[in-house]
Amino acid sequence: MPAARFIEAFRNSLSARAVRDDSLTPFAEALRLSAGTPANTAADDLDHPLMARLDEALRRAQGDPDLISAVTEMAAAGDWFQVYTGEGINAAMADFMLAKVAVGPKGLLIDKSIRAGIFLLAPNFEYPMHDHGALEIYYVHSGTLDIQNGTDSAPRRMSPGQYSVTPSEVPHALWTGDAPVILLFVWTGEVTAPIWWWVQDEDGVWTKTLAKKL
Ligand SMILES: [Fe+2]
Repeated sequence: MPAARFIEAFRNSLSARAVRDDSLTPFAEALRLSAGTPANTAADDLDHPLMARLDEALRRAQGDPDLISAVTEMAAAGDWFQVYTGEGINAAMADFMLAKVAVGPKGLLIDKSIRAGIFLLAPNFEYPMHDHGALEIYYVHSGTLDIQNGTDSAPRRMSPGQYSVTPSEVPHALWTGDAPVILLFVWTGEVTAPIWWWVQDEDGVWTKTLAKKL
């Protein structure tokens, strides 16, 4: 099954790198499926303009050939959804970000302790500053983007094969380049805690407002 193969390939890739970077170990360990993991049935294709950029983004993928093949298989039609549906202060997010979740509380494979899957992001898009209780890794599969972890640090450029770990409750923001981006992600820890937008006023003071309940 594509979701299980994706999880195995992603786990293998992170495990190999965890030898040199132990910040990857929690994600590699979280990506272990039990034989009894139940599966959801497939949903219909998503009618969304960003889906037209998926094939192009898949063709630009670089890195571990087994992971590339597993992601391409996993990304096939069906079960994509909008992460944000157009409410609240960052309503434009609805146009720019889609997801397909291999494993999670409502994923293709059901597990309440993890979320892992694929994001498709539009080119020249900003994912504004936000945080969540879960510990997160973003792994760049295709395209180029900048990521900022923390309100005071400088953004870091990331290309295919590179990754970024965001600790629990650390605000982070993303900016995509001129091509659509495929990010692979894992959440572990507090995976049902909400996502919060961080908003800065004229005096530079940050406040949090609810982005999405999970
Ligand atoms: Fe995040």
